[in-house]
Amino acid sequence: MAISFNPHQKLDFKEVSYDPVRSTKAFSMIEDNAIGEDRPRTSDTRIISPEYLSEDMSTDSLRPLDFQEFLGQSELKDKMKVFIQAANQRKEALDHVLLAGPPGLGKTTFAKIISNEMKANFVITSGPAIERQGDLAAILTNLAPRDVLFIDEIHRLRLPVEEVLYSAMEDYKLDIVVGKGPEARTLRLDLPPFTLVGATTQAGKLSAPLRDRFGILGDFEYYTTEELAKIIRRSAQILKIEIEKDASLEISRRSRGTPRIANRLLRRVRDVAQVEGLEKIPQAIAGKALEMLKVTSHGLDRLDMRILEVLHDKFEGNPVGLSTLAISVAEDEETIAEVCEPFLIQLGMIERTPRGRQITAAGRRYLQDWKS
Ligand SMILES: Nc1ncnc2c1ncn2[C@@H]1O[C@H](COP(=O)(O)OP(=O)(O)OP(=O)(O)O)[C@@H](O)[C@H]1O
Ligand SMILES: [Mg+2]
Repeated sequence: MAISFNPHQKLDFKEVSYDPVRSTKAFSMIEDNAIGEDRPRTSDTRIISPEYLSEDMSTDSLRPLDFQEFLGQSELKDKMKVFIQAANQRKEALDHVLLAGPPGLGKTTFAKIISNEMKANFVITSGPAIERQGDLAAILTNLAPRDVLFIDEIHRLRLPVEEVLYSAMEDYKLDIVVGKGPEARTLRLDLPPFTLVGATTQAGKLSAPLRDRFGILGDFEYYTTEELAKIIRRSAQILKIEIEKDASLEISRRSRGTPRIANRLLRRVRDVAQVEGLEKIPQAIAGKALEMLKVTSHGLDRLDMRILEVLHDKFEGNPVGLSTLAISVAEDEETIAEVCEPFLIQLGMIERTPRGRQITAAGRRYLQDWKS
């Protein structure tokens, strides 16, 4: 039998408190993806920032709603379809899913699609939004069977909160401590069978006990140029813009493998085309607009170039630790680790060695071409 947790009941336990304002905030993050705005970022002004900016709100209509519309990530998608079909046939909850990868690749979108395909509710919150065990207890006890609970930035959960998740994920049980000192006792409440979908931009930061409780691990890859071009053409159709295939390829080549950036660049390119009085976006205009925005051929911007420059000139090609690198380019470590580094590594321009980050021969070449 499921005992439901009354968040308003006064419990003699300081962790179990319920703040309706904070809780509403956690729940109101549904779909409008307000989560990105809560992050302390310094890179908000970067046009090719893969993080969610408020200007992206206007393109939230571009979010695919099912697997068919969700382009790319085919390996993960195929795997997921099988697991979802099996769970649906058994009328069970899907196993817990961990989605890992750099920002803007579609983790939130993918999580929502999972709940759509499960025909289940989608409850969304994020690691930093859950401050106390009681907040999480309130969320968990309000779930219905087979619901999808999405926790974004799950690597930022506080440890006491994370510990509540262990038994919830493993046995669908919620252990809460009532009372203090010698009087204290543990209450074990039943939870409905639910699916936790966690998303993280830094899988390495996840603790082993938490990671081990996910049955399905989904790694997001950067999109290929072809895939991104298709996403751009799909977005253009929804936004009612005509675009030549070459122009979509031009934009996709400079979107650092990231749909969020591709959609943003598409909108900027549309502005230029509109001012020029063009009905259809040709490649030349796409190129011109992107030059104007100072996006380099691979979608690198000033910050990426500055990293290459610092590694090459200041540290003379020697390995450099993350914190030193961050200070040298005057950016926070998280942006470097989550955003710049994975993409520069993917391009083969830097590499991560045990002693730190180091520029490669390809990185040196690119820097030299850029300077000349
Ligand atoms: N496979 C895809 N096909 C089409 N559009 C996509 C795809 N993936 C993502 N998008 C678009 O890119 C945008 C960003 O996706 P989403 O918000 O899901 O990224 P995210 O990985 O959750 O990022 P973050 O880590 O910043 O939360 C969405 O608005 C969506 O329109
Ligand atoms: Mg997201």
